[in-house]
Formats: sequence, C-alpha cells, structure tokens
Amino acid sequence: MKIGIIGSGRIGATLARLFVGVGHEVAVANRHTPETLRALQDELGSALHPASVEDAGHFGDIVVVSIPFHTIDQLPAPALAGKIVVDSNNYYPGRDGNVSALDRDETTSTELLAQHLPGARIVKAFNTMYFVTLAQSGDRAQDEGERLALFLAGDDAEAKQAVAGLIDEIGFAPVDTGSLAGGGRRQQPGSDIYNRELTGAEARQILGP
Ligand SMILES: NC(=O)c1ccc[n+]([C@@H]2O[C@H](COP(=O)([O-])OP(=O)(O)OC[C@H]3O[C@@H](n4cnc5c(N)ncnc54)[C@H](OP(=O)(O)O)[C@@H]3O)[C@@H](O)[C@H]2O)c1
Repeated sequence: MKIGIIGSGRIGATLARLFVGVGHEVAVANRHTPETLRALQDELGSALHPASVEDAGHFGDIVVVSIPFHTIDQLPAPALAGKIVVDSNNYYPGRDGNVSALDRDETTSTELLAQHLPGARIVKAFNTMYFVTLAQSGDRAQDEGERLALFLAGDDAEAKQAVAGLIDEIGFAPVDTGSLAGGGRRQQPGSDIYNRELTGAEARQILGP
C-alpha cells in the first residue's frame, strides 16, 4: 500500500518505520524541504520517499496527519480530498492555544480537521499511545486479545477497516470506539483509554458493548 505521512516527528517517524517495516511504500513530509528527511531515508531505504506536504497527500491511499493540532489549517485540502486521512493529533491548549468550541466540548479536534478537509475520509487513530510504546510494543506473534490496543473512530466503515488492517499488520489490536464524534471523544486526552497500555481484551471491557 502507498501511505503518506504529514509530520516527521515522534509519531510520524515512528509510523514511517513501522509501515516500511511491514512492506509499505511511505512518503513523509514535514514543514521543511524534503532534504531534511534524508536521514530517515538513509535509515529506511528506498521504500521511504521524502516529499512535500502536497506530494505526500497525493501519494498515499492512506495519509496520516501527525502535526501539532494548531497547524491543521495549513493542510492542503485539495491534495487530501477523497483520501483516507488518519488523525493522530491531540488538542492540548497549553501547546495549541485555547479553542473555545473544544473547551466547551461543542465539537472535537478531529471534527475540526474534517471540516478543514472536505471530501477526506477521516479516521481518528494513533492518538492515544505514547510514541515509544508505539515503536516498541507491536507484536504480530501475539493473539489479538493479548496485543496492546490501538483505537480508531470514524463514520466511514470502509476507511476504518483499512486503518484497522494497518494496525493489525504492525502488531497491535485495532479497537473501534465508534463514530467520529462519539468515538473520537472516547479517545481524547483525559479519557479512560487515553495513554494507557491496555490489551485489546482490557480495552473492550472498558469500552463496553
Ligand atoms: N508524541 C507522542 O507520543 C504522541 C502520541 C500520540 C499523539 N500525538 C499527537 O500527534 C501529533 C504529532 O505529535 P509528535 O509528538 O509527533 O510531534 P513532533 O515530534 O513535535 O513533530 C511534529 C511534526 O509536525 C511537523 N509539522 C508541524 N506543522 C506542520 C505543517 N503545518 N505541515 C507539515 N508538517 C508540520 C513538524 O515539522 P518539522 O520537523 O519540519 O518541524 C514535525 O515533523 C500531535 O498532535 C500530538 O499531540 C503525540
């Protein structure tokens, strides 16, 4: 599969390593020129393609966005229209500044991303796990219920299935939290599954039927 990743920091680079490790072609972009990604390319080889943000968007069948939430307005909507876009971002007022609609819980950070990217098929995933755990804890040899859970939320069942497949491939248990609005809230900072190392079985017990 072709995967784009926008953001080459802790989460973006970690996901690039994991996805290349299971055989995908990955285009990665950051705020700077593609030349700044040469070290990652040297590490990962020809399956890693340094790219501009627009090119990473066009490249991916799935495009992961791993940038500070307050920069989402800079994403190029046309390049991401029709794409499965995975939102790993979190809203932290201390870093991102206060957004009153989020502080009043009138909407969620991922729904704001969806508003900025009309036509994108948005899935919220990879936002609940610390990047070191993400880098080190995937284990394809384990049964699904014993693997650590990675959560996903969204309103597009086919897009969620595609992202669940990726989560499975990198050795985690995909656990569906529900819709973009309701499930997305269950994955936000402060929720009972956020930043906790839960197995798939434990996660499903917490989330309930
Ligand atoms: N760190 C974690 O363990 C963790 C876990 C789950 C979720 N998250 C969330 O995931 C997101 C990324 O976190 P992170 O820790 O990976 O951040 P990070 O290490 O600070 O990396 C951020 C990356 O985003 C790039 N970037 C910033 N603005 C951009 C823009 N407008 N267009 C393209 N690229 C842009 C930066 O580019 P340059 O390299 O060119 O500066 C950098 O590569 C955040 O929303 C965070 O809350 C983080």
